[in-house]
Amino acid sequence: MTVPSDPVVHKQLPLQGRPWSELEQAMTEMRDRDADWRRGRTPLHVYFAGDEVLDVARRAYAMFMSENALAPAAFPSLGRMEQEVVGMALALLGGGERACGTLTSGGTESIILAVRSAWQAFRRGRGTPPGRPHLLLPDSAHPAYDKAADLMGLAIVRVPLGDDYRACLHELRRQLRPDTVMMVASAPCLPFGTIDPVEAIGELALEHGVWLHVDACIGGFLAPFVARFKPDLPRFDLAVPGVRSLSADLHKFGYAAKGASLVLYADAEDQQGQHFAFGNWPKGLYRTETLTGTRPGGAVAAAWAVMHHLGEAGYLAVARRVMDTRDRYVRGLQALPGVRVLGQPPLSVLAYTADRLDVHALGDGLEARGWYVSRLSAPPALHMTVTPAHAQAVEAYLQDVQALLEQPGPPLSRGAPRRVVTY
Ligand SMILES: Cc1ncc(COP(=O)(O)O)c(C=O)c1O
Repeated sequence: MTVPSDPVVHKQLPLQGRPWSELEQAMTEMRDRDADWRRGRTPLHVYFAGDEVLDVARRAYAMFMSENALAPAAFPSLGRMEQEVVGMALALLGGGERACGTLTSGGTESIILAVRSAWQAFRRGRGTPPGRPHLLLPDSAHPAYDKAADLMGLAIVRVPLGDDYRACLHELRRQLRPDTVMMVASAPCLPFGTIDPVEAIGELALEHGVWLHVDACIGGFLAPFVARFKPDLPRFDLAVPGVRSLSADLHKFGYAAKGASLVLYADAEDQQGQHFAFGNWPKGLYRTETLTGTRPGGAVAAAWAVMHHLGEAGYLAVARRVMDTRDRYVRGLQALPGVRVLGQPPLSVLAYTADRLDVHALGDGLEARGWYVSRLSAPPALHMTVTPAHAQAVEAYLQDVQALLEQPGPPLSRGAPRRVVTY
């Protein structure tokens, strides 16, 4: 990705093509400088459940790499796989008889589609109100909602969290207006890993006739399995009254290849707003359910294959490993003087701070020791998403944090607030 300050790279096609062996070597050298996700040194971006699962995803992706999921009439194989992926997800995530869903390219697309559906339903029910109707979000909601609102000319109202780093019902209620198009609850939210009180927000949504979307992009394929051995996990899925749509990323804890997420609806009628149709051109009716036109068949196939490869038993075993690893991080961090995990994250995302120290300077120290560091700006904290790959990294990570905390002098003393750039 380039940012505006990056220099433009002026590069031209080579005059003569190069053989694969040379290209593979060149790419391997480039990759050598990337974050080391295989050994659990990356706190987000990659969800690695081991080489066997990766290999299944890779082979399935390669098998359908040329096929286009835009056209199930041409590729009924992909149409069937997509239906089965949606069906399996609905069964895991509380979908009843009227539920349905769509496979998308990622959490952001799932969210944009859910917002579009909610906005269409709002206008169908109440007409277009004057001014700029808004989406009502807890402060911890992902910026994908702001992106969706920007695209659709909607406003955003973000409300402060409670002391427990979860959505505050009182604040949401206070900001509800006749032109609130959608409320959002996360399961869990990215910054703190906390699960918002979905059942209570669902009641509020029903009381005011407002669409509730649950952002289970992270938790969608982890929480249902964790709930089997942690029955006190809060309910968050489509079966919760008031929840109308839910996003769940296959390319996170579903361990599928990148480019796979789901937007699910409790009632198929609500999905209608997501559809786009256009016929006023020479090629007849063009109809899509997603934002994109062409869709990679490989991403559909990899999701289907990984889900069948892992099955219930596989996902459950991986979820146990993830939660066991997370417990080791939490215990280890809390045993360090001054270190405090924020809130009570029930799944595998967590953030911690170090009282009386500059936690971002601690992050710098970790970076210098070869860890890729994820940060929060408010409050200043370090952040991580624990995945199966982290099982091998916990002790080394905790030892490095401890060594840095024990190091006397300037590096960790409180500095000026930092600007955190996040992806
Ligand atoms: C809670 C949450 N929602 C949405 C997204 C966006 O997902 P994607 O990056 O796949 O578009 C993320 C990404 O980390 C997320 O954590």
